[in-house]
Amino acid sequence: MHSTARGPALGGCRLWHYDDARAAMRDALRLSRAMTYKSAVAGLPLGGGKGVIMLRGGAIDPEVRRTALEDFGDTVDRLGGDYVTAEDVGTSAADMEVIAERTPHVKGLSREHGGSGDPSPYTALGVVTAIEVACERAFGSPSLEGRSVALAGLGHVGAHIAQRLADAGAELLVADVDERAREVAERLGARWVSPQEALTAPVDVYAPCALGGVLDDETVPALRCRVVAGAANNQLAEDRIADLLNARGILWAPDFVANAGGIVNISVELADGDYDAERAERRVRGIGDTLRRVFDDAASMNATPLTAAMELARRNLAEAGEAMPASETDTEPAGRL
Ligand SMILES: NC(=O)c1ccc[n+]([C@@H]2O[C@H](COP(=O)([O-])OP(=O)(O)OC[C@H]3O[C@@H](n4cnc5c(N)ncnc54)[C@H](O)[C@@H]3O)[C@@H](O)[C@H]2O)c1
Repeated sequence: MHSTARGPALGGCRLWHYDDARAAMRDALRLSRAMTYKSAVAGLPLGGGKGVIMLRGGAIDPEVRRTALEDFGDTVDRLGGDYVTAEDVGTSAADMEVIAERTPHVKGLSREHGGSGDPSPYTALGVVTAIEVACERAFGSPSLEGRSVALAGLGHVGAHIAQRLADAGAELLVADVDERAREVAERLGARWVSPQEALTAPVDVYAPCALGGVLDDETVPALRCRVVAGAANNQLAEDRIADLLNARGILWAPDFVANAGGIVNISVELADGDYDAERAERRVRGIGDTLRRVFDDAASMNATPLTAAMELARRNLAEAGEAMPASETDTEPAGRL
């Protein structure tokens, strides 16, 4: 648990291979801190936490896996609700149901089990809202009709984003390393390009929706878009890349602001008990207001959107009595939420 100042420390449970316990611990701490910032910038009544179950060697025996999840559930339960767990890399909704046999402090269960279900459609809704707000700033209108968008990564989130963009009348270029995603492109009438072409295409918006670290010293000079806004966590290889984007006149929607839809959705499940999808949708659209504020603050501070977003998170944490050092600008991936 990194912080409980704003509320229970919420963050997924990662089941992953690590070289040793130190590496697993470091990952848990780094990821939990990122969750603190992500929830704080979104103004959610949540702190930051993360669970890590360390795997060793090859495949895990299903019985051992179940036992490990049960032990994890017991551990979460002992924390009495200070930490709330959910799905993350390496765990599934079915795994959450095993954990739920041992503790009520688990969210993101399937709809049939009273939970808020797969977060991806909500993450996608938040990202599309962020794209609209960024277009409003860059082009004077939030309308996506006729806007050209290059999207890389047609996975759980990217495919939903592409669908929404197509429905809104955007001109789409899409890319994925997995050829099976071509089917999505065909269905949406999108042009299929390579990931490299998507990155350098002369478009209004580039939407990175695959892995992190895509924006660096080599790729930013090659961009020919006016806006970058997407779902991928940790888009900047380093924080200073935000300055490079600014210098090139490219408006970047900070990833941890734009992709918070999943956690906003879970916060509705957590706060209101009785999960309501419409309420969740309204709150996810609130990401647009957060991003407008970040862009306004960046303009008045003469700073990058990254600096403004980190400042906003720090202010929200300070209000709750949690002081974060100004040097702590963590934009590491916060996992699937
Ligand atoms: N799932 C969520 O609700 C959620 C929430 C917040 C952030 N995110 C972040 O959004 C991103 C996508 O998440 P997801 O759940 O859709 O994952 P996913 O694994 O379902 O999809 C990722 C897709 O990207 C493709 N891909 C991988 N490398 C690529 C490359 N170099 N170029 C183009 N495509 C490539 C994969 O083939 C896959 O189709 C991740 O960075 C994730 O951390 C997801």
